[in-house]
Amino acid sequence: MARLSRRLRAIARLVPPGSVVADIGTDHAYLPIYLVSTGRSPRAIATDSRPGPLGAARAAVHEAGLEDAVDLRQGDGLEPLAPGEADVLVIAGLGGVSIAKILDGRPPEALRYRRVVAQPMVAGSVLRRWLLEHEFLLEAEDLVEGGQRLYELIAAAPPGAPGAEGLDAAGAAALADRLGVDLETVLEIGPLLLEPPHRHLAAWIQEKQVGYRRILRDMARGSAGRRPAGQESFGFWQGAGPSAGEGEVRVEFERRLADLRALEERVAQGR
Ligand SMILES: C[S@@+](CC[C@H](N)C(=O)[O-])C[C@H]1O[C@@H](n2cnc3c(N)ncnc32)[C@H](O)[C@@H]1O
Repeated sequence: MARLSRRLRAIARLVPPGSVVADIGTDHAYLPIYLVSTGRSPRAIATDSRPGPLGAARAAVHEAGLEDAVDLRQGDGLEPLAPGEADVLVIAGLGGVSIAKILDGRPPEALRYRRVVAQPMVAGSVLRRWLLEHEFLLEAEDLVEGGQRLYELIAAAPPGAPGAEGLDAAGAAALADRLGVDLETVLEIGPLLLEPPHRHLAAWIQEKQVGYRRILRDMARGSAGRRPAGQESFGFWQGAGPSAGEGEVRVEFERRLADLRALEERVAQGR
């Protein structure tokens, strides 16, 4: 098997050894094959909503000789899962809005999983807000370099998961207060990446600033009535929705930028 990407290896590290994993939106099934062939997981379920990726997954599982240990299923979101059959859900490589929608599709008590490991490509704050509003605990977060960008990883425990410890909604709000920034900024960066500061935190804050500035620049160029690409990836825009006026959106982005500059200063001063 080809060497797994740094991103997928970082995801695998957030899967507790011995867990049966359901990889939702598996595409080539690289992650479940890795988890089972390294012995980290005894078994895995790999799902995808589309037949094309599932065909690629089937070929890869066959090549690895793991047909007995990796169960392939086609279906949307959590629909192919039966209660109690997976300890850990992995949902990686989709947007935060889609991941939240997938989790929202089946309540955790119906499926009885203990952890979800998510790697949102965008809109991490939307996903964190959904998790905290649904009483999940944030257990671990990580940043991993890949190509020209950083990827964020979030591990969270659903309410009542045995032995789970982590940050809840009140903890995230208290952190925002302590840092003197909006909760939205904390959810955008990731509370567990802020404290203790992750080694890539400064670069992550920079990356966010670049994104916000690009959107503000596009807005200033003024394509009247047309929203610049990327806005919908942000939690506050999701809250306000398409009804938000351009001025309102601009003020929000400027507030976020001011918060990010304050956080950047704290990181530089080692506070
Ligand atoms: C970008 S790939 C990510 C593959 C892999 N998880 C990774 O991180 O490398 C996204 C995959 O998710 C699948 N997908 C998208 N929405 C889905 C849904 N609601 N339920 C199941 N699979 C979905 C797509 O068909 C695609 O194969």
